[in-house]
Amino acid sequence: MFETTFKYHDESRQGEAYSAPILERKAFEKKFYIESYGCQMNFNDSEIVASILQKEGFGATASYEDADIVLINTCAIREKAEQTVRKRLNAFNSVKKQRPEMLVGVLGCMAERLKAQLLEEEKLVDLVVGPDAYRTLPSLIVGAESGQKSVNVLLSREETYADISPVRLNSNGVTAFVSIMRGCNNMCTFCVVPFTRGRERSRDPHSIERECIELLEKGYKEVTLLGQNVDSYAASLTGGGDRGGQEVVTFADLLERVAKIDPSLRVRFSTSHPKDITEDVLHTMARYENICKYIHLPVQSGSTEVLQRMNRTYTREWYLNKVKRIREIMPECGISTDVITGFCGETEPDHAQTLSLMEQVKYDMAYMFMYSERPGTLAARRYKDDVPEEVKKRRLSEIVALQQDHQAGKMKQDIGKTYTILIEGDSKRSTDDWCGRNDQNKMVVFPKTNDTIKKGDYVRVKINRCTAATLIGEIMK
Ligand code: SAH
Ligand code: SF4
Ligand code: F3S
Repeated sequence: MFETTFKYHDESRQGEAYSAPILERKAFEKKFYIESYGCQMNFNDSEIVASILQKEGFGATASYEDADIVLINTCAIREKAEQTVRKRLNAFNSVKKQRPEMLVGVLGCMAERLKAQLLEEEKLVDLVVGPDAYRTLPSLIVGAESGQKSVNVLLSREETYADISPVRLNSNGVTAFVSIMRGCNNMCTFCVVPFTRGRERSRDPHSIERECIELLEKGYKEVTLLGQNVDSYAASLTGGGDRGGQEVVTFADLLERVAKIDPSLRVRFSTSHPKDITEDVLHTMARYENICKYIHLPVQSGSTEVLQRMNRTYTREWYLNKVKRIREIMPECGISTDVITGFCGETEPDHAQTLSLMEQVKYDMAYMFMYSERPGTLAARRYKDDVPEEVKKRRLSEIVALQQDHQAGKMKQDIGKTYTILIEGDSKRSTDDWCGRNDQNKMVVFPKTNDTIKKGDYVRVKINRCTAATLIGEIMK
């Protein structure tokens, strides 16, 4: 066994720390280092890249200083994400000055837009590889080793990497991500993803089941099915991914198939689009105890006019009705969201509508962002980014304060309740405590009691108190 630490940065996870991934490996001739930014799908892509590189004889290293190839898997969702990448590339290049044979590669969502700049103007990188071109990495590396600038940013209508078993880079050995689709066909006007990741395509359901079964056999107890819009998943059982074949597998069907693999394997998913989440999905969730009662349902704004300009294709009322249905079907379901403040043309009354929607829903958790104009998006072409920075900031702080207030209330409501927790490992603060999540995705910390209980076990935990983001309890006999 070979142990190493990977650096992961994920804005959307707001600083959650990761450590000690474990890779099984033999002696490798060359070493790669990979750093990942952005969403869970991008992290999962890094695991696919690791798998491709391992087959080529590359072993992982935790420090870029002694890597033969340094890769940065980039995110383009907001301007800040792009700036961070540039800073990191400068750091890598100070090492490259000492060791010119070291290769630096940019992967992921910034690849397409910045390829020319990165390769030519700034001479910061040797390789630029887009999200659908990772299979060509080995040949691109060979090209780069012989001094060529190697680029492949072609997007594909078919690629799902269905047959590639991701090498779990940053794993606790208990929970894992499984990508079920790629790309996005929605054209939310603020969003760069349809441009960076291309058309939506669904992965063959058999390969998804196979990956989940393999994870279970390796001791994993929870899978999170990933897609930008999981509710539009559609594949045929006969003809690989997508809708060509006879029998169409919907997302509700897929959830059921994965839930049926084993009752001890928990199933989560992300992200649901309010326009597409179906009653079928909600009823399937309710039917299976091992499908976690938690939905991430990004609202973006509480104002129907703003939602229209965002091209989210639902209204405030539609969204609130979805929330109502979720709670009717699963009263205990946790709900979280994403909010953007200061989108083009957002007025004070629009902003007040977002606050009032939050009051109505009372989210368990929220990721909140200031609007950041992305070149090439529909909003950048159609609308003026006209809300001043200070106003965006002030609105964001109001939203964050309201969410904190709601979250504190939600956490307090859990005191006295008993939950089934899947133990993910030691708590961040102390090896005397375990941590794990309840069904509703809340982190729970509790003292270790006896040696027979271990990581990956399910335990019943009674909640005694809470902090802002953590429930604290004790194992029930
Ligand atoms: N597919 C998911 C979202 C993926 S991006 C969905 O449709 O919900 C994650 C979040 O980043 C979005 O929900 C949105 O809140 C935020 N985001 C996307 N583009 C942004 C931009 N240009 N500026 C600020 N936030 C943005
Ligand atoms: Fe972006 Fe909208 Fe697609 Fe989400 S659904 S990835 S916000 S375009
Ligand atoms: Fe970022 Fe690309 Fe994900 S832009 S949020 S890494 S799909």
